[in-house]
This record gives sequence, C-alpha cells and structure tokens, in this order.
Amino acid sequence: MSQFNYQNQTLFAENVCVSQLAQTYGTPLYVYSKTEFEQRWKMFDEAFADQPHLVCYAVKTNSNIAILNVLAKLGSGFDIVSRGELERVLRAGGDPKKVVFSGVAKQSVEIQRALEVGIRCFNIESFAELDRIQTVAKQMDIVAPVSIRVNPDVDAQTHPYISTGLKDNKFGVDIEKAPELYQTAANYSHINPIGIDCHIGSQLTQIAPFVDALERVLKLKQHLADNGIEIHHLDLGGGLGITYTDETPPEVASYIQALLKKLDDSSVEVIIEPGRAIAGNAGILVTEVEYLKPTDHKNFAIIDAAMNDLIRPALYQAYQRIEPVKLHSDGTKAKWDIVGPVCETGDFLGKDRELNLQAGDLLAVMSAGAYGFTMASNYNTRPRAAEIMVQDDKVWEIRPRETYEDLMGSEKLIS
Ligand code: LLP
Repeated sequence: MSQFNYQNQTLFAENVCVSQLAQTYGTPLYVYSKTEFEQRWKMFDEAFADQPHLVCYAVKTNSNIAILNVLAKLGSGFDIVSRGELERVLRAGGDPKKVVFSGVAKQSVEIQRALEVGIRCFNIESFAELDRIQTVAKQMDIVAPVSIRVNPDVDAQTHPYISTGLKDNKFGVDIEKAPELYQTAANYSHINPIGIDCHIGSQLTQIAPFVDALERVLKLKQHLADNGIEIHHLDLGGGLGITYTDETPPEVASYIQALLKKLDDSSVEVIIEPGRAIAGNAGILVTEVEYLKPTDHKNFAIIDAAMNDLIRPALYQAYQRIEPVKLHSDGTKAKWDIVGPVCETGDFLGKDRELNLQAGDLLAVMSAGAYGFTMASNYNTRPRAAEIMVQDDKVWEIRPRETYEDLMGSEKLIS
C-alpha cells in the first residue's frame, strides 16, 4: 500500500499534507516516506528467513545520509561505487564491514580508503583492477577480500541503458574467463577471493533472467570448488523493478524465494544490492505549474521542476505518473505536455497527460524516490531541490534547498 494517498481530495505523504509542505519549503521539493523505506528494506531482509544473507542497499539510488542512517539502524549493508558514497555511509553510521564496493574504475586512493576502514568485499570488474588492488593491499599489508563480478550474458529485457549483463556491456568479466581470474586472485599474496558477484541490470520485471544468471553463477561456484577455491558468498546484485504505471514486477518475497529455490544450499551467504525496489515508490517530486501555454498544436504546462531535478524521462524515456496535489471539483481534463524551464527540447517530465490544470496548481511526480535527486544537476544554474522526510505526522528537512552561494561561492574570478 502506498504511503502517498488522498485525504479530502488532497495528496498526503503518510499523515502530512503535501501542499502544506510545498508552502513551507517551496518547490520543486522531494518528499520521502520513512515508513516506505523501512518496510521495503524489511521485506527483502525477512524474505531470506534462515538463509545467511546481507541486504546491501545500493547507495547510488538515493544517498541522502538521513536515508542511509534509517537503513543502517535496521542493520542494512551498503553497495557503493565511489569513495564519496563510502564517506556518506560512514557519516550515516553505516558499518564498513557491511559494505561492498562495486564499479568499473576504482582509483587507488579509493581502494586505499576502503581497505583502511575494512569493507566487506571489493567487486572486481577486470584483470587490471585485480592487479591494482593487489598492489595497494600489499603496500598497506592488508589482505583484500574480493569477488569477481561476472557477466553471465543474460538478457535482462530492460532499457538498453540500464542493462548490464550482456557481453556488449562494459561491466564485469566474461563468465568463461572468470576461473582464470580466480586462479590469479588465489595466487596473489594480498587478495582473498571469497565471493562471486553479478548484476545484470535494473528495472527488471521478470524473475527468469535473475534465475538464469544465478544458475550460471552456481556452475562457476562448483567449478571453482573442484579447483580448490572455496566461495563463501554469492552477491546477486540489484535490479528488481517497481510499478511506475502498469508494470507488474514480481513481489519481493517471490523474487527472493525463486532465488533460494534455485540455490538449494543453506550455508552460503547471499548478498543482494537492491536500490530502486526500496526507494522508488518511497518518494515524490512536488512541483508548481508556473504557466499554461496552450497552442494550436499542443498544450504545454510549464512547471518549476525540470530535467535537472529529475532526468529519467529525458534520459530513458521513462514514464512516471504525474498527479494533481489537489483534485479540482470544477473544470475539465485536457492533454498536457508537462515541461520544465530548462532550455532543451528534451526537458519534459511527462507527455500527453490527461489533467485538469490551472496555473499555480501543485503536481506530484510519483515514484521519484530512486535515481531522482542523486541524478540531479545544477544545469541552467538551478539550485537543487530541498529534500523532506516524513513519518506519520512528523517532518524533517533532510537537505535544504541549495542557495546561490552554494552554487557559485567557491568559484573564483581570475586576476
Ligand atoms: N548493484 C549494482 C552494481 C548496480 O550497478 C546497480 C544499479 C544496483 C546494484 C541497483 O540496481 P536497482 O536495484 O536499483 O535496479 N539511473 C537508472 C538506473 C541505473 C542503475 C545502475 N545500477 C534509472 O534511473 O533507471
């Protein structure tokens, strides 16, 4: 059940009136439900029952430290892809021993910092990266725990930009080549290969590609065992999709159960890295209609949010529902393109939306909790939106709106 519902024709986030929030904090405004974050994380955790497991929330999805802190308190682990994300986790009180480090281009200083704080595991994506980790770990005289991220060559059947498990993608190591890499790793003095990692894409709405990937990973695990390399954990990545409009992704519990059924081993630890399936429907982006611009050809509703606040529609042709914050009792619906103030034709949040609109109305772009704020930019010198967390009738401003000083205070004139 969504935490964003109408009470008396007005949208509420849990028990907080969204138009009140807009009045207090201004728009564009991200609003998150703490309850939704907690419930979704727990669904993953509880679905594993007695299987040893660690749910590592993918920090890139929504990395506000208040959110990381809420999840850390539940015992969450974290999947990071940069030193910046590691520093966020530490600042949020996350346990470094529950951090896995993914990403294709880890720098030496990032590896060093991760070793220093003692993360759980590096997910290695190439021979060259394995060498680099060995070098850094040796200098520090620490043994680095690693998994090799394998590319199982399965089609995730999702948007090409967020599909990562095909041979064409830059990610991971061809699963056929992985045994050689594990042998090298096992022979290195400062590397300990402890896991196998894979992540095949994002916004998957079918279980089959996950199960296919796991099958291939299990074959590799057996092959490694036959060659004297014992694997302690399997990291199956993230990728479970959500409902933006009419998609019907599997329930969290059915997805985990399908994995456990295939696994058939109660001792190996399973790590997963969900992001969107926890954060996506825990947030909305609230925006105000600045102008209505009906033309002979099309109706444009120009809002105060733009592609710099939420880039998914422009970048992936993503569809996110757009709902009125207050339902009008009069007027009629028309088709509107919901566009932002940025000087780009690609700057739209929705096209041909049937809405009953007036200038000054507030709109909510739904399912904006994942890859919303974290992908926001300052394009057109637009301050990034404020972020608000609510639970029941409580409200926290977890990031104030950027000021113009934030935007250009560190820039310098040349003499
Ligand atoms: N683990 C790794 C190694 C990843 O690369 C990702 C996402 C995740 C976990 C989390 O995946 P999720 O559970 O959220 O599907 N910006 C795009 C999505 C990019 C996903 C990148 N990797 C979007 O807005 O749709």
